[in-house]
Amino acid sequence: MKEKSEYLNKFHESIFAKMSALAKSTGAVNLGQGFPDFEGPSFVSKYLIEGVQAGHNQYAPSPGYLPLRSALSEIYKNRYQLEYCPETEISITTGATEGIFSTITALVNPGDEVVIFEPFYDSYVASVEMRGGIPKFVSLGGSEFNFDEGELKNAFSGKTKLVILNTPHNPTGKVFSDTELGLIRDLVIKYDSYVISDEVYEYLTFDDHEHTPVSKIDGLKERTIVISSAGKTFGYTGWKVGWCLAPRDISAAIRLTRQYITFSVNTPAQYAFSKCLTEIDNYLPEFQKLYDGKRLMVMKALDDLGWRYFRPRGTYFIMASLEGVSDLGDVDFCMDLIKKAGVVFIPPSVFYRKSNEGKRWVRICFAKSDQTLKSAIDKLSLY
Ligand SMILES: Cc1ncc(COP(=O)(O)O)c(C=O)c1O
Repeated sequence: MKEKSEYLNKFHESIFAKMSALAKSTGAVNLGQGFPDFEGPSFVSKYLIEGVQAGHNQYAPSPGYLPLRSALSEIYKNRYQLEYCPETEISITTGATEGIFSTITALVNPGDEVVIFEPFYDSYVASVEMRGGIPKFVSLGGSEFNFDEGELKNAFSGKTKLVILNTPHNPTGKVFSDTELGLIRDLVIKYDSYVISDEVYEYLTFDDHEHTPVSKIDGLKERTIVISSAGKTFGYTGWKVGWCLAPRDISAAIRLTRQYITFSVNTPAQYAFSKCLTEIDNYLPEFQKLYDGKRLMVMKALDDLGWRYFRPRGTYFIMASLEGVSDLGDVDFCMDLIKKAGVVFIPPSVFYRKSNEGKRWVRICFAKSDQTLKSAIDKLSLY
């Protein structure tokens, strides 16, 4: 038979699938893949049933169920003083992942360069390379995951079509500062590029850190596509409802591509999230308290064990350092940990292409029930 697509040579089974399969086959406690192992709030599923029973069961319009787009428009206006027209500038996607792929498909030509910070969420590089784009990596390094200004400048050129940002950042838990975003903005404008800003953890920030949508930075709104998702915020990752917010002409291009990718998104789930987002102000304090409690619990356990880690400012991940814990690289360490302690973490070196720094860290997901976290913490002391 003839060869399959040459793009496949670059891709392998994702590390998340691999580690979750290992957790299942060995019975280890899974703090790997980024989703809650407990139920999200019951009002969300109640709205889904209401949507089904009210007959919201046929194809939604391709750009999305209008009340959901309107709810998002209100949120951006009220929380961030950003105007997005629900009719022309907000599009609903099958999770953030499809939003990222559709946007890259709409913007990137073969040979275009795309600036990506590493460690990266794995769909960015795959989506860029499937379009024939060329990733240019900038490392977030050291104990604070900062980037080097010179390295950032060198990553840009006349061929730069796009920069992909993710704040709050998976896997590090970093929140990009206004100064960092200002530096990126100056280069984006100098080289006349676009920005994809993946903000799926927008409501999960801790301590005094606050999320600023990247389109709020002076000069960026007209060239930025903000992408987010209901999955993380409401703890229903399997429903896969996300969105892209962008100026009218960019939105039109994204809508054109996604017409032939998924066409439209699950209608009752869109109905449910349109209701949930209208009530988000009542829900957020409880959501943030729940996850902060889990973050503090895992940080205390790491302190007690003497592990060093980056105190996450956002997301539901902690990057723990292997310095002083093990001389093994991240992949070997994670395998050894499953064998000796029965706990699954994610080895993050797969999220780096340029630097070797990933080998010295592991990613821990704390979006798990207190019982799961306690069990993992007890087992960790066995290592
Ligand atoms: C940074 C980041 N972007 C996007 C996604 C995927 O979002 P969705 O499930 O809405 O496709 C994830 C999920 O882990 C993520 O961590």
